Amino acid sequence: MKDTAVKAMFETIAPSYDFQNSFLSLRRDIYWRQVLADSLMLDTGALVLDVAVGTAEVALAISERYPLARVVGVDFSPGMLEVGRKKIAARGAADKVTLTAGDGRQLPIKSDSVDALTISFGLRNVEERDLALNEFYRVLKPGGRLFVMEFSYPDQPLLYRLYRFYFDYILPPVGNLISRTNYAYSYLAESVDSFPDDPHFIAEIAAAGFTDTKIKKLTFGIAKIFQGRKEAQ
Ligand SMILES: C[S@@+](CC[C@H](N)C(=O)[O-])C[C@H]1O[C@@H](n2cnc3c(N)ncnc32)[C@H](O)[C@@H]1O
Repeated sequence: MKDTAVKAMFETIAPSYDFQNSFLSLRRDIYWRQVLADSLMLDTGALVLDVAVGTAEVALAISERYPLARVVGVDFSPGMLEVGRKKIAARGAADKVTLTAGDGRQLPIKSDSVDALTISFGLRNVEERDLALNEFYRVLKPGGRLFVMEFSYPDQPLLYRLYRFYFDYILPPVGNLISRTNYAYSYLAESVDSFPDDPHFIAEIAAAGFTDTKIKKLTFGIAKIFQGRKEAQ
């Protein structure tokens, strides 16, 4: 899907995005974000950039886990950012979490400036993944770490077949109904299918310059956290 269509889709589903997420993942999304936040192991005063911040769920989970960190969220959907900003204000976190409009392929952020960069369920929407990964490398400080959380499929054959059934036949109609679109959750399944497999994605991260790459599987591999590090100078 082209970036303009992706943006339009998130504008449409923004008001009900949080509900859809929790309902359709059986609240696993909350646990996955906690694991992502825990994985960062930040030093005091660290600066974290959450790309494709959406409604700020990850940004807030990081801020709640590390109250002395500063979190900046970037997204290209004004509708998602609006929901996120209201939530940040309601939780009294406006002094720690700020959101700004921007594109993951051309970040409005200085080079070598952030300690950790997270992107959760966002990268599979970006057609030019190489541009985004190069941009992530640019803005990280030397020694800074990248965390990409994405949907995937379980490795275990029986679980794979059961999950594929849910993902291909149950999730699209139910998700489309809840999101009041006739395409958002059909697109979700397609976009997960078109995301590279683990070795290819790790190779893409490495091609952008990252080292110390690793993968953490969550909930039988339904979600994964891919990590890399920008070489310290
Ligand atoms: C599935 S949502 C994920 C939101 C959030 N990270 C979460 O975990 O709930 C994907 C988000 O990526 C954003 N997005 C997609 N492509 C983008 C791009 N090129 N630059 C910035 N944001 C983008 C969308 O606007 C949307 O808010």
